[in-house]
Amino acid sequence: MDDEKLLDIRGLYTQYDTDDDVVYAVNNLSLSLSKGRTLGLVGETGAGKTTTCLSILRLLPDKIGKITAGEIYFDGKNLIDLHEEDMRQIRGNDIAMIFQDPLSSLNPVYTVGMQIGEALKYHGIYKNEKEIDKRVEEMLELVGLPKERKNDYPHQFSGGMKQRVVIAMALACEPKLLLADEPTTALDVTIQAQVLKLMNDLKEHLNTSMILVTHDLGIVAETCEDVAVMYAGSIIEKGSAEDIFNGENHHPYTVGLFASIPNLKVKTRRLKPIDGLMPDPANLPKGCTFSPRCPHCMDICKTEEPPCVMMGGEHMIKCHLFTSK
Ligand SMILES: Nc1ncnc2c1ncn2[C@@H]1O[C@H](COP(=O)(O)OP(=O)(O)OP(=O)(O)O)[C@@H](O)[C@H]1O
Ligand code: SF4
Ligand SMILES: [Mg+2]
Repeated sequence: MDDEKLLDIRGLYTQYDTDDDVVYAVNNLSLSLSKGRTLGLVGETGAGKTTTCLSILRLLPDKIGKITAGEIYFDGKNLIDLHEEDMRQIRGNDIAMIFQDPLSSLNPVYTVGMQIGEALKYHGIYKNEKEIDKRVEEMLELVGLPKERKNDYPHQFSGGMKQRVVIAMALACEPKLLLADEPTTALDVTIQAQVLKLMNDLKEHLNTSMILVTHDLGIVAETCEDVAVMYAGSIIEKGSAEDIFNGENHHPYTVGLFASIPNLKVKTRRLKPIDGLMPDPANLPKGCTFSPRCPHCMDICKTEEPPCVMMGGEHMIKCHLFTSK
């Protein structure tokens, strides 16, 4: 494996076995991330973004969610092969996640200081209570909250403040990889900018790699060096932000998705809906999963899964249109 790669996901399949159906949420997903880089993961609701993050951490819902194939290399180790105990170590020390619903990460019966302290204790680099307490105060200040608020309970904070606490908990361990699942959606615009700056500063300071899941292309343009576009559980285009925002060639889905954002300078446009719906993940179309909505659909698209075509540099497009180029 390339030494620079911190994360390298190969051919991942994740499904949910529900009472009625099997939901194929992640399908043949390959994605890699180098040290210190931020990757924006974008795609419509239901594309499988959260499922991808939960698969990396192996935090899929018990008995329902399962990885059925593929490899997830992190720092050279295949996480899928690790014992639960080793995986717990990785969750505490190396990979942290900011969940889409931040409130689910906070326990209402403990003060926020105790909760950040727990994360630090698990990490094991702080020797005694005094050191931990000092670090808790530093973490609160880092996310823009007064240190005295460590003794307050989650319900005493506003939504935006709770999100800051959650970010402090995720960053407390100085993870190598941060999975941030829509970390700023619940925040108002000014606080959103502050929180993103905070995450960026941390990245610079600690060389943390980050996967930033977001619907907001303005955030991607401002924050991410790399961009991956996800559709029906697969990465259908990936490249540098420059490739994705300003490149000449794109996957037909990306073209539709980005139709409203002409270039990197436009900051706050959000994803534009494309005609038609995402396929039912319990009943995916054969061949290219985008074929029912694609204006360029050819016969081969309805039968054969498109290959990942490299367009130069790291730019990849998964589409039959580019196979002969
Ligand atoms: N616990 C679950 N049981 C059954 N199906 C699930 C479960 N969690 C997610 N799914 C399904 O898996 C698919 C992918 O969901 P996922 O949450 O990964 O999408 P997402 O890209 O994060 O969407 P959003 O942008 O809305 O957060 C969806 O069809 C969803 O309904
Ligand atoms: S593979 Fe075919 S259907 Fe799929 S996006 Fe490309 S042209 Fe469209
Ligand atoms: Mg999600």
